[in-house]
Amino acid sequence: RRAWLTAIAGTAALPDATLGQIKPAITLRFSHVVAEETPKGLAANRFKMLVEQRSGGRIGVQVFPNAQLYGDQDEMQALQLGAVDMVAPSLSKFGRIGLPEFELFDLPFLFDDLAAVRRITQGPLGQKLLERLPRQGLVGLGFFDNGFKQMSANRPLLEPKDFVGLRMRVQASRVIAAQMRALGARPVTLAFSETRRALASGVVDGTENPVSNFWTQAMHEVQRDLSLTEHGYLGYAVVTNQRFWQSLALVDRQLINLAMQEALTFANRIADAQNDNALEALRQTGTTRIHTLSSDQRAYLRRAVQPVQQQLANRIGPAWLNALRVALL
Ligand code: LMR
Repeated sequence: RRAWLTAIAGTAALPDATLGQIKPAITLRFSHVVAEETPKGLAANRFKMLVEQRSGGRIGVQVFPNAQLYGDQDEMQALQLGAVDMVAPSLSKFGRIGLPEFELFDLPFLFDDLAAVRRITQGPLGQKLLERLPRQGLVGLGFFDNGFKQMSANRPLLEPKDFVGLRMRVQASRVIAAQMRALGARPVTLAFSETRRALASGVVDGTENPVSNFWTQAMHEVQRDLSLTEHGYLGYAVVTNQRFWQSLALVDRQLINLAMQEALTFANRIADAQNDNALEALRQTGTTRIHTLSSDQRAYLRRAVQPVQQQLANRIGPAWLNALRVALL
C-alpha cells in the first residue's frame, strides 16, 4: 500500500519532466510583434510556462514572437477570425478596430509616472475600457506596461524645432499622429515589423518607442541619436477571441486567467529594468548618442503638444476624457 502511494506521489511530481510528451488537449496560439527579450515577450513566455505547468501539459501555449505569424496590420483581424487565440497589441492599436477611446493612453505628457498609469489600468476606467472589447468579439484579460517612449532620429530631438520636416514612424493612432504634427513632423503609419527597414532605407527619418523595443530591433544601427523625452506611455491589453474563450471550460478559463494575471504582474515588475538594461547596452555599443533633456526643453515639447488633447477630444470621447481627468486628479 505504501509503495503504491509513493508511486502515485512520484507521478504527481512528474508532469514537469514529462510535459514534452503529453499531447495538449487544448492549444492556445499567442502571437505578438516584438522580440522575446522585451517585457511583452518575457510575459508571454512566462504565461506559457505557468499554463503548461499548472495544467500538467493538458493546455499548451504556442508563442509566436517577432511578427512571425502576423504583424500589426493583421494580428487583430487574425484574432477576430480565430486564426490565433491571443494577442497583446499596444493600446494605440485599438482605435483602428473601432475603439478610439483606447487612444487616450497615447496623449502626450499625460502620465507623470507609472503609478498614475495604474490609477487608470487598475481602476474603474480600465475596467470600463475592457468592457468595450466584447463589441468587437474580444475579451480583455488585462493591461500591462512597456514604459515611457523616447524619440530617435539621425539628430537630437530636444525641442519642437528639431522635429520640423522629419518623417516620423508612428503606430496606427490618430493621437500619436497629431502629436507628431504638433511638433512639426510628418507622421508615417507603419507596422512595427517594418520600422527598422524603413529607418534603414530612409523611408522615415525617426521614430518613438521605449528603449527595449529600440534595442531589440537593432534600431541603434540605423539611428544616430536617441533623445530621452519620456513624452508618452506605451502599454498593452491582452485580448482573446470571445468565441474561443467561451468554448473553454470554466476551470480552464480560471487557470488561464490566473496565469495571465501573474504574467502581467511579472511584466509590470520587469518592464523598467528591461528598458534600463537596454539603455545600458545601447550606451556600451556607442553607435547612438543618448541625449537628456533639460527641464526647459521638456517644457517646450509639452507646450507644443498641448493642443492635441483638444484636437482629439471628439475622437476619444469627451466622457472618457472627463473620467480620465477625475481619475488622475
Ligand atoms: C509599436 O508598434 O511601436 C509597438 O506597439 C510595438 C509593441 O508591441 O511594443
